[in-house]
Parts: sequence; structure tokens; C-alpha cells
Amino acid sequence: MSELYPVPADFAARAHVDAAAYDRLYPASVADPQAYWREQAAFLDWMRPFTQVSDTRFDPEDLRIRWFADGTLNASVNCVDRHLPAKADIPAILWEGDRPGDSRTVTWGELSDKVNRLANVLSGLGIAKGDVVTIYLPVIPEAFIAMMACVRIGAVHSVVFSGFSAESLASRIEDAGAKLLITADEGYRGGRTVPLKRNADEAVAGQPSIRHVVVVRRSDGAVPFTPGRDVWYHEALAAAAPWCEPVEMGAEDPLFILYTSGSTGKPKGLVHTTGGYLVHAGTSWRTIFDWHEGDIFWCTADVGWVTAHSYKIYGPLLNGATSVMFEGVPSWPDSSRWWSIIERHRVNIFYTAPTALRSLMREGDGPVRRHDLSTLRVLGSVGEPINPEAWRWYHTVIGGGRCPIVDTYWQTETGAVLLTPIPGAVANKPGRAGKPYFGITPRVVDAQGGVIDGPGEGNMCFEGSWPGQARTILGDHDRFISTYFAPFPGLFFTGDGVLRDEDGYYCITGRVDDVINVSGHRLGTVELESAISSHPAVAESAVVGYPHEVKGQGVFAYVTLKDGIPATEDLRREIKDSVRARIGAIASPDIIQWAPALPKNRAGKILRRILTKVAADDFQNFGDTSTLADPGVVDDIVQRRKADK
Ligand code: WTA
Repeated sequence: MSELYPVPADFAARAHVDAAAYDRLYPASVADPQAYWREQAAFLDWMRPFTQVSDTRFDPEDLRIRWFADGTLNASVNCVDRHLPAKADIPAILWEGDRPGDSRTVTWGELSDKVNRLANVLSGLGIAKGDVVTIYLPVIPEAFIAMMACVRIGAVHSVVFSGFSAESLASRIEDAGAKLLITADEGYRGGRTVPLKRNADEAVAGQPSIRHVVVVRRSDGAVPFTPGRDVWYHEALAAAAPWCEPVEMGAEDPLFILYTSGSTGKPKGLVHTTGGYLVHAGTSWRTIFDWHEGDIFWCTADVGWVTAHSYKIYGPLLNGATSVMFEGVPSWPDSSRWWSIIERHRVNIFYTAPTALRSLMREGDGPVRRHDLSTLRVLGSVGEPINPEAWRWYHTVIGGGRCPIVDTYWQTETGAVLLTPIPGAVANKPGRAGKPYFGITPRVVDAQGGVIDGPGEGNMCFEGSWPGQARTILGDHDRFISTYFAPFPGLFFTGDGVLRDEDGYYCITGRVDDVINVSGHRLGTVELESAISSHPAVAESAVVGYPHEVKGQGVFAYVTLKDGIPATEDLRREIKDSVRARIGAIASPDIIQWAPALPKNRAGKILRRILTKVAADDFQNFGDTSTLADPGVVDDIVQRRKADK
């Protein structure tokens, strides 16, 4: 029998959705999604109301995803302006800097003022509706302000994680044809300085589409400045007019682009549109975290990921919620940092990733016990499967045994949540991402494309559209269709494996494509291999994920060196450094194993399934090895793995 944690009665009593409501509303929402989403759309302030809810078809020959298409609205009006009359003096953002004691409060009034001024600055620099603005900022309030300023004038933001290298930033600028970059002089993380402007300069050097770089002053460090191209944020804002008329946008006009890794080398820019995304992100945020007026919310994700887009920025802003924003890392200056912030700001709802919990769990309960976490009411998890051990620690030690955990399953592509135990309605099972969200129809599909009813294991697919889903991959609609809609015609395919149990709970079992999930970050193995192979000593490489105690999966690279090059520790380090420089620190291989040759079939295809097993220390049942061009290669790889242990 599996472990079940019922919804606490006092929690259910004041929840937006309790079990009876879920059991009544969920079937109705999937029987008539148009009616459900029509009602949800009333959550937004529309400039011109829509007449048709949706026009959707998951047909690879004729893909259509359109929601609220003839309605018009402006995202910043919904996220900022409409809260002003009541909340001008109330904090929108409670910001904690990397260094303890460095904090700031941004009220809704200040947020609005800055958004309007920056929007005017951007217009003055020639940015107009439909232009792409790339944002390369740390977790500081200016990241929110920059995103809102873009959408106020109809510009499309493309936020790039500030831990990415200059080269990664450059490729994302180029792919989007961005006209302007917003960055900071330097960032701070765990007591270290991150040279953002230097990276930005390097990235922009080969990108003629960028006309201006707006630079936020975060540090006192002197940074290079190119007059004419570069603009100081604080100077420009001070000179700007305080009101900017919001631009009326069509519901299907792009709101933002966000890049994620896929199974080919090139990151894909998922395009999200305005009306549907805001309806899904805004209403689901409130429901899944059971937010009530006055609750303090904190999502620890970096602004560069979709988790932050939907549930740190758009979700809370659309609802007028006060949220905590933290620039640093959970382990600095010590591993009680997060818990001290929860205590200080009396956080009620806390949303984080399993990888962080696993690393903090290793420090024991001491750092937690020093702080009063009694204000917590709901806990959330996202980004990767949460193992039951981490789940129990989260529930007992962080949540004091009283807080439901919403294990939220979704993706950059889906825009907002698809599966989760709604906290007042669905009892928790550790390691299970719960049940479908309203309006969402999950399908478990076998390898032949057959839909499995009842308990079973297969590919995680969804039937029928939902408003938050991405509409295309920028510049590559064919790839969008072939990746998500062609594998199982009529369905959206996530790239994940799933298991559905006898109670209808879903357990995500991990990626089934060439993507690995390292500390909740998606990395494409092909992208990693091309970064490794760019080192001049490398002839060939193959990357797989392997079980890692803290990261969930670690990066395991098999590397074949060019003839005559000696395999040294220095070279190992150099290869890791070159991956760091090409992609970013998150992609640096955890293990490099030298491989004089890689196991290939006679057609030259690398047999990854064998490499994955060896990396996981599983040396048996390699399956059919008769297709191997040289069976001796496998023995060699196994012997080396055993010797390295
Ligand atoms: C994984 C993050 C298990 C999954 C919102 C998915 C999860 C990928 C969960 C998307 C979860 C996300 N349980 N696995 N609760 N949430 N994943 O695009 O493999 O950064 O496909 O979006 O993370 O990662 P992305």
C-alpha cells in the first residue's frame, strides 16, 4: 500500500478548492474546456473582450492553437496597474540580496513608476511592438521591471539565465534577432562576483542586431562602457517621463520567448502568447498554491527559467501578491540562509526544486531548527521528480508535518501546470505529481501509440489544448510539430515517461528523449557533446545522465581523445572548463571517462543504452549486443568504469 497524506481538515476548510469541488469541477472542465476557460478568462482585464474561446487542433498536418484570439489586452496593465488603487504603498517585492542585510522593498507604486519609465526609455531607444529584448539579469527587482516594461510597449522579452556563458547568450540573441539587451554591471552569488557586463559585451560584439545595451548598476565595480551603445539604467530612468500608455495587444501576439534544451544541438526558443498564457498562469498560480489575500509567497527559481516566468513573476503579479525575491544561494553564508529568510518575511507559501532540498537535507535538521517556520502553509516542488526521502524531509522538517506539498509537473512548453495535487483537494503521495489540473486531459501512451487506460506505464502525453501552451519554436515551426505533435498524432508529447497508479495518481519517471535533467535544469546531450568535442584534443564524445545523489542526474561524458594525446588530469579539467565557457557552469561534466572507442553499431550509431547502464554501475543485461561493430569496446568501457570507482 502506498503512503498517503490526507489533506488536513482545517486546510481544506478554507481552501479555494476542496475535494468535493475538485471531484465536481474537474470532470466538467474536461468535458467542456471552452466553458471552463471562458470563465477563467474573466480573471483578466481585457481591453476588447474575445468572442471565441479557442480554435485548436493537434493535427501534425494542420496544427492550430489559438485562444481568445480576437480579444485584446496588455499584460503590464493586468500585472501592475490594476493593483494600484488599493496597493500603491504595499510591497510587491521583498528583495533579499546575496549578502545578508542587503535588502530592499519595492511597493506596487514604485514598481509601476519604474515600469512606466523604463517602457519610455525602451521606446526612446527605438523598441516597438514585436521587437525582441533580451534580458540577462540576476535575481534583482529590475528583472521584473524589465519584463513588465517590455510587455507594456508590446516588445517580446527573452530572458537568458545569468549563469549562461557569453557564447550561450550570443546564440540566443542571434536566434531571436534581439534589438536591445538589458543587463547589469555585475551580479553576486554566494559571495562571488559574476561579470555580467563583460559577458554581455563579449556576446554582443558579434551581434549586429543589438543596437543598445541598458545596464543596471548593481555593484560598485568599474565595467567597460561603450558610449552611444550603452545606457545606464538609473540615468535613463531619472530622465524618462513617468507615464507610458500601454499598447493594446492581441491575445495571440507573442508575450515572450524562452529558450530550452532539446534533443538536437540548438536550444529552442519557445514562443508564448499573451491572452492564453496569462489566463492559465494567473489562475493556476492562485489555485495550486491556494493563495489568499495577504499571503507571502516565495519561489526560489532563477528568473531565467519558466518556473520563474509563470510562478514567480506573472502568477504573483497578476494576482497582486507580495513575493520574496532572493539573489543568492541557499548555502551561503551558511545553509540556514533560506530558513532565515522564511522566518524574516513570514513566508506562507514556499516553492522550490528537489535538488536544493536534497543538498540542504545533507546538512541535517540543525540549520532548520534555528528558525521559526511556523508561518508556512503550502510547500511546492518543481523541475524534476522528487524522491520520497526528500519529500518526507520537506514535509516533516520544513513543513512541520502540517503543510500539503504541491508537486507541480509542467514544462517550458506547457507554460503552466498540467499535473499537481491541488492542496485542499488531493491527498499527497510522496513522489507522485498528483492528478490533472482543471481542463487538462493526460494520456499514458505505449510505444506503439496505444492509449493505456487505468494503471500502467508509458509516454506522457496530453489530449486537447490548454491556453498556456507554447505556440511554436521561434523560426522553426516544423521542429515544433515534429517534436511535440508528430510522435503520437492527435496528442501533445512531453518527452517524459510516466506511470499511473491504481488511484489515478501520476508519477513522472524522467525524460525518454536525449535530454537529461541536472539539478532541475534541462540539458541536451547533443549540445553537451558538441561543447566537449569543440576542445581540440577531443576526437569524439558521448554524454549520458547517471544517478546523482543531489543533482538527480549528473553529466557523465565518455571522451575519445585524438591519436597520440595523453589522457591527463589537466586535460580533464580543461575539458570541463571549456564546457563551462561554452554553455555555463550548470553543464560542466561531473565525470569524464576516457574511452579509446565508443560502442557503435555497424551503421556507426552510438549505443547509448549501454553507456547509460555503465554510467549507472549496472554492468548486466546490455540487451542485444550482436549489432556492435566491435564487442571488445564494451568490455573496455566496463573495466575502466570499475577501475575508476
Ligand atoms: C521535469 C520546469 C517530475 C520533466 C517547470 C519536464 C518534472 C521538465 C516535474 C521540464 C515534476 C518538471 N516531477 N518531473 N514535478 N516538473 N519536471 O522546461 O522532465 O525547465 O519535462 O520546466 O522537467 O523542465 P522545464
